[in-house]
Amino acid sequence: MPGIAIIGLQWGDEGKGKISYLLSKNAKYVVRFQGGANAGHTVVIDDSELRFNMLPAGSASGATPCIASGTVVDLNEVVEEIELLKSIGIRVQPLISKNANIVLPIHKQLDEILEKMRSREAIGTTRRGIGPAYSDKALRIGIRIEELLHHASLINKIELLQNFHKLSLENMDELIKLAEKLRESICDLEIILNDELDNGVKIVFEGAQGTLLDIDQGTYPYVTSSNTTIGAVFTSCGIGPRRISDIVGVMKAYTTRVGAGVFPTELKRDEADMLRERGREYGTTTGRPRRVGWLDIPLLRYSIMVNDIDWIALTKLDVLSGFRKIKICTEYEINGKIVKIAPPNVRMLEKAQPLYVELDGWSRLSEEEWKNIVMKGWDALPENAKAYVETVEKLLNKSIKLISVGAKAGMEVTK
Ligand code: IMO
Ligand code: MG
Repeated sequence: MPGIAIIGLQWGDEGKGKISYLLSKNAKYVVRFQGGANAGHTVVIDDSELRFNMLPAGSASGATPCIASGTVVDLNEVVEEIELLKSIGIRVQPLISKNANIVLPIHKQLDEILEKMRSREAIGTTRRGIGPAYSDKALRIGIRIEELLHHASLINKIELLQNFHKLSLENMDELIKLAEKLRESICDLEIILNDELDNGVKIVFEGAQGTLLDIDQGTYPYVTSSNTTIGAVFTSCGIGPRRISDIVGVMKAYTTRVGAGVFPTELKRDEADMLRERGREYGTTTGRPRRVGWLDIPLLRYSIMVNDIDWIALTKLDVLSGFRKIKICTEYEINGKIVKIAPPNVRMLEKAQPLYVELDGWSRLSEEEWKNIVMKGWDALPENAKAYVETVEKLLNKSIKLISVGAKAGMEVTK
C-alpha cells in the first residue's frame, strides 16, 4: 500500500495537517500536490504549534517534504518552513518539481486588486496570489521553478508578465537569492516518486483546501483555483491512479467555511459563537473568524462520491461536547423535492432547505478525561458520542476509522 491520499471533504480546515502527520509517521515522502500558501495546516506536538502553509504538514514527522507540479509555490514560505522544521530538529532539503509554477509578488497584488474589483461579490480569498498564479499558468506565461536556474530567460519571462499585467513589482535580486537557497531542491519529482513507488516506498499525498473548494467540483465561483479532489494527485505528481491504495477523506464533526459563498447549514448568533469559540475556529492563514454550522450530509455524500473515498478520519469530535442537542442535516428539500446527494451548485444550494435529525449531546470533558479515552479506545467514548459517530457512518455509508479529539498529535481514537 505505498500511496495514501488525504483529501478534505468540506470547505477546507478539516484538520488535514494533523491526520497527515499521523499517517506520514512511517512514510518516506509526503507530497503537496495542489494549491499554494493558501493552505494552513497545523500540527501540535506537545506544546508547540507548527503551522505550515507551503510544505506538507506531514513533514513534521520526518518524512521528506515534496512539492509537485500542480502547486503554485511561494518561495519565501518554503524557506521559512525549512527553518520551522529545523526548529524541531528536522534538517531536510525539500524536493520541488521543476514544473511547479511560482507565485510572485505581482500575483498577490493582483489577488488584492481583483478582490476589490469584485466588491460585494468578493470571494474572500486568502490574498496569497493563488488565482492569478494559476491563471498565468493557464495562459502559459507563468514562471516555472526550473526558470530559477536560468537567469537570462527568467528576466525575459518576468518582463513579459509585468507588461501583460501592466504592473511591475518584481525584485529580481530577491528572487535570485531565494533560488540560491533552494537550488538543491529543484528536481524531476515525477521520476523520483515513480521510482520510489516501484520500490514499495510509502508516500503520503497531502491535499489542501477541500472538495467543496475544488474549481470544478466545488461551489464555483466561491472556490479556490485548483482541483482539490483526488484526480489532482495524478495530474500533479505524474503518477497513475493505481498507485494509490487508500483514499482517506478528512472531515470535521461539524462544518466550517471561511470566505464568502453559500452554506446551507450555517448557524447564526449564539449557537454560532459557541461552536466557533469551542472549536477555536479562526483561520490559520488569515486569522479570520470562520463561519460555522452543523454537519451537512448531502454535500459530504457528494464529496465522498467524487473522490471514491475508502475511509474517513473524523476530527474535532470533542468540540461538540457540552451541546444539549446536536443536529445533523441528512437531506435537503429543494423545490419540493428531497435531495440526498447534493452537487455543490450555488443556485441550487441557495434554495436548499436542510432537513435535520437531532441527537442527544454529551457533557463536556476535561483534557485529562479525553486523554484517558484516547488510551482506552473507542469503548471509552461517551455513549452519545459513539451514537453520533455511528449515525454519521450510517448516513454516509462509509467507515470512520479514526477519530481525532483536540489539536494535539496523539489524541486520536482508532476503531
Ligand atoms: P486548508 O488547506 C479553508 C478559501 C478562501 C476563499 C477561497 C479562495 O487549510 O484547508 P484562495 O486564496 O484559494 O484563492 O481563496 O478558498 N480557502 C480555504 N479555506 N482552508 C483552506 O486551506 C483554504 N484555502 C483557500 O478562504 O474562500
Ligand atoms: Mg486551514
